[in-house]
Amino acid sequence: MCLIQVLSITIYIGGSLVNGAALNGVANSNEIIGVPGKGKLLNVKSYPPIENYQSGLYEVYQEPYYLGINQQAAVAVLVSEEDEGVKGEVVFVQKHPPVGPVFIRGNITGLTPGKHGLHIHQAGDLREGCEKLGGHFNPYLIHHGGPRSSVRHIGDLGNVDAKEDGVGEIVAIDPLMSLSGGPRGIVGRALVVSENEDDLGQAGNANSLVDGNAGKPVACGIIAYIR
Ligand SMILES: *[C@@H]1O[C@H](CO)[C@@H](O)[C@H](O)[C@H]1NC(C)=O
Ligand SMILES: [Zn+2]
Repeated sequence: MCLIQVLSITIYIGGSLVNGAALNGVANSNEIIGVPGKGKLLNVKSYPPIENYQSGLYEVYQEPYYLGINQQAAVAVLVSEEDEGVKGEVVFVQKHPPVGPVFIRGNITGLTPGKHGLHIHQAGDLREGCEKLGGHFNPYLIHHGGPRSSVRHIGDLGNVDAKEDGVGEIVAIDPLMSLSGGPRGIVGRALVVSENEDDLGQAGNANSLVDGNAGKPVACGIIAYIR
């Protein structure tokens, strides 16, 4: 897979020249857009700039590569830290990797009623339970937010809201994460549900912009490909 991140770019592909200005022009609609290369298309996925924070980002890649086949669905099987009885299955589906939206669906049971933070963490190493998984998955090194914030970790899925029976249902669509490899890839990392509500970066204290004050993990599982 050819996948690079660029800010201001001039790209040569098999003798064709695509200059940064042209790419800016075609990349603004935030869709996959073909730029003529030598026999292949150059695809561009753009992320809009965040004012006073970050310039626009572009991922540029060529097909075909090993995306797609068997990389369109993944599942995280959540198991609780100690005998807390929290468990769940959360399925991630991306019909058009690496850039299409990821559909997320699942149920988590055994939770205390109310909201619990739900995040993808950097690592998937469960040798010490849910304790050594790193911070929220954050490849662009920006601060914590909610799933609809313009500034957020890619791992920020907000909260799962458990009803009186302790079951929280997750139905979401995410535009940032990807099931293929590359900078936004989530497979091999861990999905974690926390004891407290995620304040989505809105609480006005320093930790709010780190992890939303979501507290300790209560259950976690590795996001792994299906089949
Ligand atoms: C959650 O569980 C309920 C009850 O088993 C089921 O009807 C529902 O479809 C599940 N939701 C998801 C997103 O899997
Ligand atoms: Zn976060």
